[in-house]
Parts: sequence; structure tokens; C-alpha cells
Amino acid sequence: MKQKKIDKTPARLDFTQSVTGLILAIFISAHILFESSILISNEAMYKVTIMFEGYYFFGETYPGIITFFAAAISVIFVVHAAIAVRKFPNNYKQHKVMREHVLRMKHEDTSLWIIQITTGFIMFFIGSVHLYIMMAEPSNIGPFASSFRVVHEHMGPLYFLLLLSVVSHAFIGLYRLAMKWGFMEGKNTKVSRARFKFLMKTMIVIYIIVGSLSLAQYTYIGLTHDFSEVKKYKSKIIDLRAH
Ligand code: HEM
Repeated sequence: MKQKKIDKTPARLDFTQSVTGLILAIFISAHILFESSILISNEAMYKVTIMFEGYYFFGETYPGIITFFAAAISVIFVVHAAIAVRKFPNNYKQHKVMREHVLRMKHEDTSLWIIQITTGFIMFFIGSVHLYIMMAEPSNIGPFASSFRVVHEHMGPLYFLLLLSVVSHAFIGLYRLAMKWGFMEGKNTKVSRARFKFLMKTMIVIYIIVGSLSLAQYTYIGLTHDFSEVKKYKSKIIDLRAH
């Protein structure tokens, strides 16, 4: 008798989602640390910026590297989100069943999954705005350019929401990945699950604190540095619309 062929597409999609998620989680963990160099000094943040622009390799800065990097991250970001969309509860009935399930079971892992969906949804919009700006204005990164964007281009509140979403999403994602790939199957699954959960929560708290402190520092620089020349230049560009 002829055997029915197994459709491997769902397994492949699942694997792609895990791998893209892992890459993005590693990226964001490093991103927030590099960017927190502003907490050391303006000079330190500037050095990190030109390092990514290839200065220590080529002897000159090439902001195009940032555009390329941001484009690559965007592709991974879109692939990851596109695969995730198929898991969203996509009608009212499904949503109701899921809500009742969460309320009745008080199952923490299901609640984590709901946080994943919600934060993922938020990031889909805010993350895209941020990635586009990084791609379009790669030379406008640095202690003062970034602070100007945070304060005078009003990106601060958006970044704070993005920070809360991305940090929760990344570490809950890593926890779920560790569970999926069998890292919690020791002698005592319950104990190892509790340990991983503790680690996940600790990392979320640490990263939110570090990210918020950096954001506070960018805000402080944005508010105290003299940007009057930049503002004059920008208002000239805006004036051009009247002619
Ligand atoms: C290669 C792509 C990326 C580059 C070059 C980049 C660069 C930067 C820079 C320079 C800042 C400082 C503020 C500014 O200059 O506007 C920043 C802030 C931030 N970025 Fe990105 N970013 C990238 C991708 C992402 C992605 C994919 C996410 C999350 C989805 C993200 C989340 C954040 C958050 C949350 C902040 C505020 C950080 C804080 O609170 O300390 N970034 N990014």
C-alpha cells in the first residue's frame, strides 16, 4: 500500500520561527547593552557608534553599513512576524475560548503566550518605525543625534513602549524556546522549569532597568544640550514648504 506523504511545511515554519526568534533575541540583548554605553559617557557611545560604522576596520566611517544591517534585521523581523501571524486567535470565538482557558486554568505558560502575542503586535508597528528611521538616517546616530531624536523628535515615549515590549517578548521567547528544545527536561522538570522562569524574569527586570536608565540619559542630554543651531536649520527646511 502506498504511504501518504507527510506535509513538512508546519514543522519547517516552526523551525524558521524559532531560529529567527533566537537571532532577534540575541540581537536585542546586545543592542540594549551597546546603546547603554551612553551611561558611561558621550564619548563611549560615540566610539560604539563609529565602531559599527566600520571606523576601526576601514579607518573611515561608512554609515551605509548601518543601513545594510538594519535592512537585514528588518527582513528577519518581517519573516518572524509573518510566520507568527498564523498563530493569532483570528476570530471572536477563538479569542473567547482562549480567554476562558486562561481564566479557568490560571496557567502561567498560557498567560506568557498571550503576553507574546500582545507585545509582538505592538512591536510590529513601533519596531517598524524605528527600523525605518535607522535605515533612512544611519548617519544621525550618536550621543547628540540620538538625544535630539528622543526629545525633540518625540521618540522617547515610543522607545519606552518598545523597550517594555521587546524585552518581555525576547526573554519570554527564549524561555519558551528552551522549553521547546528540551533544556528543561532534567531529573526534576518542575525544578528546572522554575529556575528558567526565575532567570527569565530576572533578565526582563535587569534589561528594563538598564534600558530605562539609558533612555533617561538620552532625555537629559536632549533637554540640556544646546540644539538651537539644529532647530534653526530644521525650521528653515520646514519654511521651504511655504514657497
Ligand atoms: C540594525 C537595526 C537597529 C539599529 C541600528 C538600532 C539603533 C538604535 C539606536 C542608535 C538607538 C538610540 C536612540 C536613537 O538613536 O534613536 C536605539 C534605541 C532603541 N532601539 Fe534600536 N536599533 C535597531 C533595531 C532595533 C529593533 C529591531 C528593536 C526592537 C524591535 C529596537 C529597539 C530599540 C529600543 C527599545 C530602543 C530604546 C532603548 C532604551 O530604552 O535604552 N531596535 N536603537
